[in-house]
Amino acid sequence: MTTATAYAHPNIALIKYWGDLDPTLHIPANGSISMNLAGMFTRTCASFEPGLEEDRFTLNDKPAPIPSSRRVSKLLDRVRQMAGIRTHALVESQNNFPTGVGIASSASGFAALSLAAAYAAGLELDEKDLSRLARTGSGSACRSIPAGFVEWQSGGSDEESYAFSIAAPEHWDLVDCIALVSIAEKQVSSSEGHSVANTSIFQEARITDAPRRLDICRTAIQKRDFKALAEVVELDSNLMHAVMITSDPPLLYWKPETVSVVQEVISMRKSGLAVCYTIDAGPNVHVLCSSEVAGAVSGMLKELPQVSKVLECNPGGPAWIEKSALHGNNRD
Ligand code: DP6
Repeated sequence: MTTATAYAHPNIALIKYWGDLDPTLHIPANGSISMNLAGMFTRTCASFEPGLEEDRFTLNDKPAPIPSSRRVSKLLDRVRQMAGIRTHALVESQNNFPTGVGIASSASGFAALSLAAAYAAGLELDEKDLSRLARTGSGSACRSIPAGFVEWQSGGSDEESYAFSIAAPEHWDLVDCIALVSIAEKQVSSSEGHSVANTSIFQEARITDAPRRLDICRTAIQKRDFKALAEVVELDSNLMHAVMITSDPPLLYWKPETVSVVQEVISMRKSGLAVCYTIDAGPNVHVLCSSEVAGAVSGMLKELPQVSKVLECNPGGPAWIEKSALHGNNRD
């Protein structure tokens, strides 16, 4: 039996991935940039066990729903193919944060799974190949492999589509204050959303302009220029949601509470606080600010009746292996 346990943080996209060139391999229509979220993580233990007749996957200590188990098995198939083995695996995953509410649990989940399964299978993959492997499970998972502020180049092919760090977590003490307005599971998955992105007449314009937004975002991070970052982050989020609500069928992830939190963020900015918002495929609002004002921003968000909880995350490190949990591998 070879077992390994790995951890990965979720990430918040500052420039969003929405729409695929290749939906099976998750080759994205545009590049994206994100920040890993420290404090939140998925912990995944993978063990290849000769006695098993099929893969078994538990999520938060319960047997996972069939669609999630299939996605996990597909990734395990890739690992088995690379390692030249046929053994089935037992995979146990836990999130220390709410699952399926727009805090990309599939990102941390598939990043942790890729690292744990690759290690348990005896594969020695570098960061690029781990990122490529994680991408085949869930696109945004490739950004949870490297550290800190991360760019995923579309690349256009399996070989060239991977993520890399553009700045270490310590580079900029940004804080993502996640205002939870709902922790209900979302009705439409990101995968379904990606598949209809091209039905929106806005998608082409969003994709064509993406290199410009990526440049502005990358430079804003390098220069720690919050004003430039805020403008491009809000624009990019709004462009993605414009595509979502004009797709066929239309996708509206916002709730009335989402919009009212966005309005509060705009008011905070008018009153002089350096804040901005971004929203993924869910109703919760990620409010970005610098650590000096994070206490005040989080305090104001907590006061809002529509906000049930605020999670505060600093930039997070890369996915990592829990060395003490290795069994059956002759590794250090
Ligand atoms: C809105 O990576 O969850 O969070 O590849 O189908 O698993 P799949 O999609 P996923 O899509 C993420 C969409 C997003 C934007 C982003 O994280 O870039």
